[in-house]
Amino acid sequence: MNRSAPDPAGLTGPSPFRVHWGLDPEITFLNHGSYGAAPRVVLAHQDELRRRLESEPVRFMQRELEGLLDAARAALAGLVGAAADDLAFVPNATTGVNTVLESLVLQPGDELLTTDHVYNACANAMQRVAARFGAKLTVAKVPFPLVSADQVTEAVLGAVTDRTRFCLLDHVTSPTGLVFPIETLVAQLESRGVPVLVDGAHALGMLPLDLLALGASYYTANAHKWLCTPKGSAFLHVRRDRQAALRPLVVSHGANSPRTDRSRFRLEFDWTGTQDPSPWLTIPTAIRFLDGLLPGGIRALMERNRQLALAGRDLLCAALDVPAPAPDAMLGALASLPLPAPFSSAASNGALDQIHDRLFREHHIEVPVMPWPKPGQRVLRIAAAAHNDLDQVRRLVVALEGLREQSFRTAERP
Ligand SMILES: Cc1ncc(COP(=O)(O)O)c(C=O)c1O
Repeated sequence: MNRSAPDPAGLTGPSPFRVHWGLDPEITFLNHGSYGAAPRVVLAHQDELRRRLESEPVRFMQRELEGLLDAARAALAGLVGAAADDLAFVPNATTGVNTVLESLVLQPGDELLTTDHVYNACANAMQRVAARFGAKLTVAKVPFPLVSADQVTEAVLGAVTDRTRFCLLDHVTSPTGLVFPIETLVAQLESRGVPVLVDGAHALGMLPLDLLALGASYYTANAHKWLCTPKGSAFLHVRRDRQAALRPLVVSHGANSPRTDRSRFRLEFDWTGTQDPSPWLTIPTAIRFLDGLLPGGIRALMERNRQLALAGRDLLCAALDVPAPAPDAMLGALASLPLPAPFSSAASNGALDQIHDRLFREHHIEVPVMPWPKPGQRVLRIAAAAHNDLDQVRRLVVALEGLREQSFRTAERP
């Protein structure tokens, strides 16, 4: 990237948007992907909502909350191309996935389908449901590195049988940071009678969405990652024809409410017991904030972040002498690459990967390094949010080059 060229989006660094976050200035934070990070203005709105709630809890919960939820849902619906009535708020994508899985009624021998890039927690939830019914979990193997999105389509569609009853597809994969071709896959699978749940945990705020056009039976996504709301904010979109059979994980007053002005789906999901609703209610503020950062609005920001992820990936690939593991067209604001030797042979001590840990402790860089696809191999994943810039990736490159010169413990601990 040419440093003398105009750079209003702050790609080279420092990011002009960084001031909006209270992130620790001592840390090079390249892991927006794991939990997101909320900017000050959104946190201020949350503080105000909480003050309002605690100043008169009954007024807030019984007289104000419904209207506030409706407003938050309307703003979200506008962003994701959905009808507000088809959206339910859930605390996180894991809950969205579990909610759908718990609604499935299967026969022994039926098959549930996903890929080997699936988020581990969601694979666990699929295993549990499969075991309950004596069903089979089929895991389609998607190559990584890969050269074309067609390899994803072929792997998934090639694993469909006449017993396939359900498919969970990640929109943006967690370990490998790939944007899967979900438009093609959803169209193919749904037309074959296989209901699809898209796990868009990373997609909301990273990619343009049009859920009505997509037509998946179910779509869940986190607002607390790339939409930058406080933690505990996600949605589940349920196609109209699937709503009657879908219940929240927690049954509450909505189940026998005499109200007829709202669907049972709406009534059940809008109240699942007392909790802090402020993470959902800040969604309109978060959208407005992200929309205001660049002249082209949130779409321009998504493209800025994608360009940063691509440029960061190219820097890392050049420094580590590895080819780009995926075509540019399959990247959003995350980029993963397999770490070559000697990094690949470094030991991990259980919960914390050794390289992840050393980058943090010795270089103050927060970036995920994960064992994938199996222990002994690992990927490193950078995230490109508005507060990030290329200087941060340069720091990571210098740190990795330093680590490469040193020796790693190579024996796995018992
Ligand atoms: C694909 C995918 N699904 C689900 C999740 C879980 O998100 P949460 O912990 O907010 O439920 C993640 C988190 O990174 C993810 O990447």
